[in-house]
Amino acid sequence: MKRRTLLCIALAAAVFPLRAQRPGETPEQKAERMAWFDRAKLGIFIHWGVYAVDGVSESWSFYNNYLPYEQYMAQKAGFTAVNYKPADWARLIKESGAQYTVITSKHHDGVALWDTKASDLSVPKQTPAGRDVLTPFVKEARRLGLKIGLYYSLLDWSHPDYPNFTKTETRYAIADDPARWQRFLDFDFAQLRELSKACKPDLFWFDGDWEQSAETWHAPEIIDLLASYNKNVIVNSRIQGYGDYGTPEQGVPTVRPGDRYWELCYTINDSWGFQHTDLNFKTPQMVLKTFVDCLSMGGNLLLDIGPREDGTIPDEEVAVLQELGRWTRKHQEAVYGTRAGIPAGFVQGYTTLNETGDILYIYLPYKPVGPVEVKGLMNKVNRVWVVGSGNMLNYKVYNKNYWNDIPGLVEIDVPEQVLDPGITVLAVLLDGPVRLYKGAGEVITAN
Ligand code: GLC
Repeated sequence: MKRRTLLCIALAAAVFPLRAQRPGETPEQKAERMAWFDRAKLGIFIHWGVYAVDGVSESWSFYNNYLPYEQYMAQKAGFTAVNYKPADWARLIKESGAQYTVITSKHHDGVALWDTKASDLSVPKQTPAGRDVLTPFVKEARRLGLKIGLYYSLLDWSHPDYPNFTKTETRYAIADDPARWQRFLDFDFAQLRELSKACKPDLFWFDGDWEQSAETWHAPEIIDLLASYNKNVIVNSRIQGYGDYGTPEQGVPTVRPGDRYWELCYTINDSWGFQHTDLNFKTPQMVLKTFVDCLSMGGNLLLDIGPREDGTIPDEEVAVLQELGRWTRKHQEAVYGTRAGIPAGFVQGYTTLNETGDILYIYLPYKPVGPVEVKGLMNKVNRVWVVGSGNMLNYKVYNKNYWNDIPGLVEIDVPEQVLDPGITVLAVLLDGPVRLYKGAGEVITAN
């Protein structure tokens, strides 16, 4: 992502922390509204648009003057969707173990994937695809029980009434022509109404909010509008503080993010949309590790795929989704319904807890040499098994002295034959909610 964008997002986040709840909503009501999202853990993001034709960066390539606007828009003539099979997309996503999907209904370039009546700039009206390519996918995904999210760029660098065009060219200043800005707002509101009616999304994933303030966007009115179609709608943070959950982007957090609800949006190679030249794909194992990393910090992973203009999905991305599917199917109890684990340093691996806090899940993204050690565990361990295979594991406590409270070391034997080819998960059943020793040890005064 561009440095400028990063800076703007950082500023927006600093100036506008997320509202805890919507006006009139109790914390319990918000928790209820967020419940599916909290349990979902994995979502698949789809960036699909005319930018896939030449494989240039979505919208930013003309904004940053890497190529002229006309050349960018000439890609419309090559967007065919000839091999687009929305049912196959939905099945692949469902089989990855994802519980929701978020698709770009319109990126910053303004090209709508559905048949919008608010403008002519759309795939149905201006590309050989010649049809709405958004709602068929929404329908198939919903049929399989996936929750539906729509990415929508609030800013639109193509719209004649939007003030910014490229980084070197602006159309006008809002203060000089408020009526023109109002026309733009009417346009955004009209599109949001269309999307709400046509797709009844469970989630709106806004982007591009950083160019205007909450007041200028009429952010509270946007939320009210969406809520009038679906009172349980969830909105991401990118609406100048009026959203429900945080969206760290690309950089995997190293400490648990401050927002109660959050989701890491993340690419498989280095691009959101399809780019022929970007072959820097992460391996399925690398992505799986990042997924588990998010779980251990109590967040979701929103993993992006970038289909080609014809609707096919690169093999490398399919392989990642399939491996996630294999692994999540086998390890369901250690995925959905878990919450953030214990602090790093107690175990050499990632951890989560079950809802009641008496099962500690340990994720091993490596092949252990010798027993896996848990230190600082005040609880008695009742049993240890391998998630997905049910094999009971032997464990022993070492170094526990009876005269103080400092726990010993729990040493768990993990034989080679129980290892998962990706990430092995151990379940440690405790005698009650997890309790940790957080001291620095003491001098022994009796023996
Ligand atoms: C960024 C970019 C955009 C991308 C999005 C996904 O803010 O503007 O190109 O779609 O993040 O998270």
